[in-house]
Amino acid sequence: MAQKIILDCDPGVDDALAIAFAIACPDIDLVGITTVAGNVGLDKTTANALRVVEFLGADVPVTAGSAAPLLRQPMPAGHVHGEDGLGGAALPPPTAGPRPGHAIDFITDTVLAAPGEVTLVATGPLTNIALALSRERRLPGSVSDFVIMGGSASRGNVTPAAEFNIAADPEAAAVVFAAGWTVTMVGLDVTLQALADRPVLARIGQLGRLADELVLPCLRGYSDGGPAHSGRRGRAGDGTPVHDVCAVAYVAVPSLLGCLPARVEVETAGRWTSGMTVTDFRVPPEACNALIATAIDVPGFWDTVLACYADIARALG
Ligand code: BDR
Ligand code: CA
Repeated sequence: MAQKIILDCDPGVDDALAIAFAIACPDIDLVGITTVAGNVGLDKTTANALRVVEFLGADVPVTAGSAAPLLRQPMPAGHVHGEDGLGGAALPPPTAGPRPGHAIDFITDTVLAAPGEVTLVATGPLTNIALALSRERRLPGSVSDFVIMGGSASRGNVTPAAEFNIAADPEAAAVVFAAGWTVTMVGLDVTLQALADRPVLARIGQLGRLADELVLPCLRGYSDGGPAHSGRRGRAGDGTPVHDVCAVAYVAVPSLLGCLPARVEVETAGRWTSGMTVTDFRVPPEACNALIATAIDVPGFWDTVLACYADIARALG
């Protein structure tokens, strides 16, 4: 049976590609999308989620969430994802608005209505998740699993120490890692390995309108490099990362990633290390709060993603 997920995201080029994958994948039942400010402001992340859902002809509720981090000023990344957040994709504005209500209510109500059935996947700053945890203390015990794209055991991208989703709201991330559940951390350790390189782009190029109107323009307008995101490009080889897709692909096919248990603490105060996910693999099992993705089957990842994309591409024409 397909795994139900809620995708909490900040589209964002790679979030948009993750939404497309979640909609396309027969092993995933995308029961809702919730949005958070991150790569661009909340109005744009919400509109972008709706634009992608409508482009794909899907029926997935989109609920808007937090417009700013818990304590800090927003740290938008329009210079990476394009001014509107979808790189070079020129999808029409959405015809519908988001559902009424707040993302944190959608998350808690949906998860609590079906305990043990819904996996929560977060691919943006963790503001909505931290607020949902403070509203509903049964959340950690009620999800099927909790998976994030964020953090890293080995490096950063917005700074040498910190990955964007954690750096954008470290206080929220600290709440989330301390909540008593196991956070599966799909971080830069693996996402910088699964690059859309030239051969992958050639395969994507076969996907008709999905490629021409969404995937390729998104990737072309994604400058995942430069001073503010140093380390994203180049170090792991040629090609463009699709970070957020890795987290959803893990839910669909867990064997794509190799994970190790660890204790993660989020640095909120460091002068040079704010937003760092300090990862300790040496602690005893009872002290672990996370599963860290440390290995990825890159050919298997792309075969999985492109097979699912091919299915919706056929429907789109
Ligand atoms: C993460 O940061 C965002 O810019 C991307 O959407 C991804 O979620 C990668 O560091
Ligand atoms: Ca994201």
